[in-house]
Amino acid sequence: MDLKTLQSEIIRLKEEKDFCILAHSYVSEAIKEIADFTGDSYVLSVKAKGTDKKNILMCGVRFMAETAKLLSPDKRVFLSRKEAGCPMAEQMKKAEVEAFRRENPDYTVVAYINTTAELKTVCDVCVTSSSAVKIVNKIENKNIYFIPDPNLGSYVAKCCPDKNIKLFNGGCPIHGKIRVEEAREAKRNHPDALLLVHPECIKEITEMADYVGSTAGIIDYAKKSDAKEFIIGTENSIAEELKYACPEKHFYELSKELICPDMKLTTLPDVYNCITGQGGEEILFDGDTSEKARKCIDEMIRLGG
Ligand code: 13P
Ligand code: SF4
Repeated sequence: MDLKTLQSEIIRLKEEKDFCILAHSYVSEAIKEIADFTGDSYVLSVKAKGTDKKNILMCGVRFMAETAKLLSPDKRVFLSRKEAGCPMAEQMKKAEVEAFRRENPDYTVVAYINTTAELKTVCDVCVTSSSAVKIVNKIENKNIYFIPDPNLGSYVAKCCPDKNIKLFNGGCPIHGKIRVEEAREAKRNHPDALLLVHPECIKEITEMADYVGSTAGIIDYAKKSDAKEFIIGTENSIAEELKYACPEKHFYELSKELICPDMKLTTLPDVYNCITGQGGEEILFDGDTSEKARKCIDEMIRLGG
């Protein structure tokens, strides 16, 4: 089957089999074209909660499919490519959070949504990159343990100066490896361009940026801005998407290295195989995990809404 035929077949099958297809902005254009909704982690979790379809197919990484299942426990939720995981989500063990809690009972544990459902069972509230500042500001407790990304955590700390924020030593291996010298060089090469970066980049880079935000936030900012040139400091699929969306503007990648291999694993044939029951994985939890992890996500929706 050629690409267009495969896309038409998936569109037909998702209606026939009552599927809602959700795609993170980092996956390929071919998948985003057949998705019902695309967006950042927050947008996808809101769409997963709101859909009236019986089945949800997530094209992204495992924690996103887990979040969809926690929000819609009565629906069947599938991850289209079972190997697709976020390395940051696996960085911290449940026992480490439990030990922290025992030693620091006066702290609220705030988990970035890029964590496993198992880890969420021992946290108080989740945040996404687009909702983190708003949610942390709304938490009554001054003492916050922010896990696992210290880059997003220090950005939140800068925006919420009244909070006492402890950080864990994790982080995104893709955004976190971009060095400040690369950002300086990009700015030297494109002196008129605005620098738009994801808060998973190191502190020295977010401090240089004209805008810091989630993937959806960066897309929105670039589309609405009167500026004509932008350096994009997040996964390179966003610069590509913006080049198509705004052909009159210029977009430059902050680094050629900004490619998430896990987000690139899922292909259009994977989506077809999953929807036809020949691949992918259904996300299932035991009742205890579901109930405890869901509280953390519900709190995110309550405080973030
Ligand atoms: P967003 O919350 O911006 O979608 O980010 C998810 C992610 O994995 C970024 O690397
Ligand atoms: Fe995880 Fe980083 Fe990939 Fe996002 S870009 S999914 S945080 S590894």
